[in-house]
Amino acid sequence: MDIELFFEKHFETTDGDFHILDGRLFQFFNDFQMILGIKGDIFEIGVHYGRSALLLANFIDPMNEVLHLNDIFEDQYLNISRSGHGSYHIFMKNLERVFGKIEFMKIYKTASQFLNVQELENKVRFFHIDGGHSADETLNDLNLALKSTSEFAVIVVDDVFNRYWPGVVEGLMKFLSNHPPVKPITIGFNKVFLVREEALDSYIRHLGSDTFSDFLVRHGLGAQKQIWMGNDVIIIESRGMYQCELGSEKEHYELSCGEGYSFPIKLKNLSSVPLETTEYKKIYLTYHLLNAQMKTISWDNIRTPFSDSIKPGKVSTIELEIDPLMEKGEFYIEVDCVYENVMWFKDGGSRTLLIGVEVK
Ligand SMILES: C[S@@+](CC[C@H](N)C(=O)[O-])C[C@H]1O[C@@H](n2cnc3c(N)ncnc32)[C@H](O)[C@@H]1O
Repeated sequence: MDIELFFEKHFETTDGDFHILDGRLFQFFNDFQMILGIKGDIFEIGVHYGRSALLLANFIDPMNEVLHLNDIFEDQYLNISRSGHGSYHIFMKNLERVFGKIEFMKIYKTASQFLNVQELENKVRFFHIDGGHSADETLNDLNLALKSTSEFAVIVVDDVFNRYWPGVVEGLMKFLSNHPPVKPITIGFNKVFLVREEALDSYIRHLGSDTFSDFLVRHGLGAQKQIWMGNDVIIIESRGMYQCELGSEKEHYELSCGEGYSFPIKLKNLSSVPLETTEYKKIYLTYHLLNAQMKTISWDNIRTPFSDSIKPGKVSTIELEIDPLMEKGEFYIEVDCVYENVMWFKDGGSRTLLIGVEVK
């Protein structure tokens, strides 16, 4: 599947906390492995409903590589740290929705403590650890990753700096204090990326290259260096290059079923660049449709182009087009701007605007 189409249509429609900008970092590391011609399997511990697993499925060469997925799924009595709540049924439904049937996958329905990675035929080139969040589980999973990965592998650990899961950082510190041949290299939004010592210089060079600078600009990101555990690490931050303030005179509208509407939205450009819709810079005002329980029911909706370029600091009122709503009831319109194929402004820290609608 085309990866941009995947990010646009499927990433955020799969429930989960995996941040799209961490998804983009996964893509960046995977792309580098492709440039180097690295082959190998991909392993994930902690699938939940499949948000990250579906992204990893995009990286697989189906003829030569296998996607290994481990979760306790419905056997939640094994979930000692209470991290997430996997569902095989929901995961399979999501997988089918996005890919149909896939052959290159092996599922291990068990706690990761019971995995035996000696059975792997290929070495693993990308290992994502997002299962049990206690110190012991994290340490166990890192040791599995160490045993199963190849020279150029990336090992990614979730929630290391999440204060609600202190076991993860404890497990990682215990692991690193044994001096494994693995070093942290990048801190993403909620993920820490580690690589093996043999490959460290190659990855560091790539993180200093124009390819990396282009990647940061494309996704509105910034990077800064820090020293952590005696290693240079790159911290990725959201630069929020595209920011706006959105306002509406009315907080609630009553609409008739099946009719199209437009709402006047006041938009102030808080970015340092003009906001405009051109052939090369496709920025639009648009919205997500949520139900009364605030669950997204339609992620992508009609785009309203900017008729004029809005300069930094300027305010403009735009008639946001609304698709006809075909069902009666209470809904919310979450207004945001999208830079097509690049980012939703919300992901760069821009605040969205919620408007209630009652469809009669
Ligand atoms: C935070 S969620 C994973 C999120 C997922 N990566 C995503 O992108 O949505 C954690 C998952 O780990 C599973 N889990 C918890 N303990 C586990 C263990 N010991 N072994 C394997 N999976 C475990 C849970 O069932 C849950 O689905």
